[in-house]
Amino acid sequence: MMKRIVITFFMCLLMAGLVYAKEDVKMKDTFSVIHARKSVRNFTGATVSKSDLDKILKAGMAAPTAVNMQPWSFVAITERKILDDLDAGLPYAKMLTKAGAAIIVCTEPDKAYEKSKDMAIIDAALAGENILLAIEALDLGGVWTAAYPYPDRMKHVKTVLKIPEEVIPLNVIAIGVLAGQDKPKDKYKKENIHWEKW
Ligand SMILES: Cc1cc2nc3c(=O)[nH]c(=O)nc-3n(C[C@H](O)[C@H](O)[C@H](O)COP(=O)(O)O)c2cc1C
Repeated sequence: MMKRIVITFFMCLLMAGLVYAKEDVKMKDTFSVIHARKSVRNFTGATVSKSDLDKILKAGMAAPTAVNMQPWSFVAITERKILDDLDAGLPYAKMLTKAGAAIIVCTEPDKAYEKSKDMAIIDAALAGENILLAIEALDLGGVWTAAYPYPDRMKHVKTVLKIPEEVIPLNVIAIGVLAGQDKPKDKYKKENIHWEKW
């Protein structure tokens, strides 16, 4: 009996190790993720799991935020009808028709450091970039489509999602399974760097 328990215990340990090792191998390093990230506008139409969305949202909330105020909130969407309703009023977010999900990064000046709208936008934008990187790390595709600062787009997003008046929707980040056509751009330009002084 004891022997069987010991063998079972070590088998479990071995399996846990294998699962962990597999995850580890799959894990991309930070620089690979940063340089592989691209705006993806071609999706297969497949769904995105809630567990992936949870990981993505968690990454969003790990962003730096002035005086740790965290003035952000997020609307996560998986329902086809809501994605289509958003698409109807967003001329530059047509990829939503094939996206499996979307996240709207929202912010509230009243919750930001010194109740500053600028701080609120900066903090939420950083959360947005973390979200885009997490999407890439999970081998999914994503693209930031603008709501802010366009009054008509923000109004549409707020109406569809019943977002309160004081809350600013920054974007609609379309998320989906890659259909394969999008590539990262090389934006490295030496002339944009000033060493020591401008
Ligand atoms: C503030 C902001 C607004 C954007 N708005 C849109 C948009 O409405 N629709 C869209 O397809 N892409 C949008 N983009 C994505 C940009 O077009 C894209 O990031 C840029 O072309 C650089 O390409 P990359 O993301 O592949 O590096 C937006 C990006 C940012 C940062």
